[in-house]
Amino acid sequence: MRGVALAAAMVTSLGIAGCASGDTEQSAATQTTEAEVFSWWTEGSEKAGLDALVAVFNKQHPNVQFVNATVAGGAGSNATQVLAERLSEYDPPDSFQSHAGAAVVDYVKRGQIEDLSSLYDEWGLRDVFPADLISQLTVRDKIYSIPANIHRANMVWINPDVLKTAGLDPKATYSTTADWIKALEAIKKTGKTPLALGQSWTQVQLLETTLLADLGVKGYNGLWDGTTNWGGSQVRASLQNFQKLLELSNSNRDELEWPQALALLKDGKAGFNVMGDWAAAELENDGAKLGSDVLYSPVPGTAGVFDYLADSFTLPVGAPHPEGSKAWLETVGSLDGQVAFNKAKGSIPARTDADPSEFSEYQQGAIKDFKDNTIVSSLAHGAAAAPTELDAITAAVADFATQKTDLAAFQKALVAAAKG
Ligand code: GAL
Repeated sequence: MRGVALAAAMVTSLGIAGCASGDTEQSAATQTTEAEVFSWWTEGSEKAGLDALVAVFNKQHPNVQFVNATVAGGAGSNATQVLAERLSEYDPPDSFQSHAGAAVVDYVKRGQIEDLSSLYDEWGLRDVFPADLISQLTVRDKIYSIPANIHRANMVWINPDVLKTAGLDPKATYSTTADWIKALEAIKKTGKTPLALGQSWTQVQLLETTLLADLGVKGYNGLWDGTTNWGGSQVRASLQNFQKLLELSNSNRDELEWPQALALLKDGKAGFNVMGDWAAAELENDGAKLGSDVLYSPVPGTAGVFDYLADSFTLPVGAPHPEGSKAWLETVGSLDGQVAFNKAKGSIPARTDADPSEFSEYQQGAIKDFKDNTIVSSLAHGAAAAPTELDAITAAVADFATQKTDLAAFQKALVAAAKG
């Protein structure tokens, strides 16, 4: 028996099962199979991205009914639990969203997803995705999922008016976390929230970008390959910075999903918000003009580094409608699918053959940075660490942020998380 949470989630998802957006609805009579696609894109720019992809899917595969199995909750905070239950009960969807890197590899190790190498050959995908990205999806020479996009996690969004009121230059860049903290403290004096923050996973993302800023690329990568000591003094100093950043954030952070934290920034109640570049599309959808109403830059101390994640779709073992799965994956990997999806989602195509001029100014910059910057893997979004380690880090952050533990205990919990 599935739990109550799962039942509730399925009611939500089945409530919109089979519906495609507006003008893209298909006539059931012509459809010979279906594709139940599991994701966490239920609202705002995330839903807009999914709808755009479904519209291309309906054009490319009019015989397949799209069944929308979404579970709300940013970064898959609820969806991954529901999915884990479904997979353990041999009740997989036809395809599910995951993240390139450690998250996908974990499904492979559990024997829960199929090798897609022959589809890569059939659709010529080895030539159109960056080789490094393909290697993140490869285990023992087999490729296990199809990336829909590339997102950047280490971005900060800035409200220029809030900064001006605090006597700060909105265009100033800060090369260290310590300098940035001084600016945040100036905002605090004006009575506004210096740093808008949301619930648990967004706090983990803030920890990730703080570690990246303070330890540098080599030190940050070392956290995942064992060459950086989680128990050492450098990590300790970075955790102290993280603690200050938490103190400079809104006290109701645990109640806010990422769009609500971002809204604090947009509505002039907060100066900064650290959020992945799905924020770009969300802000533009809400009518904000990027570059004037809201400014952006890499998180202080991380210029020249692209902290990447990629949403990617899989073929679960035992998928009930393999033809539907294949059709969906073909659309995800197709040029038309990637252009339509990413225009709406704020990310950039994983395919390297898309025309940059079709994308927003923000995205054109991201396309360039992805080529020129040093690439590192996101912790909060499944690329850097196995899900068990990420879960343990998330629990440690939650205890620390709610003041159940002190700094020393926090660091100890992180050391234990890394040991697995
Ligand atoms: C990430 C996902 C993004 C975006 C974000 C917020 O994990 O890769 O596409 O949806 O969560 O929900």
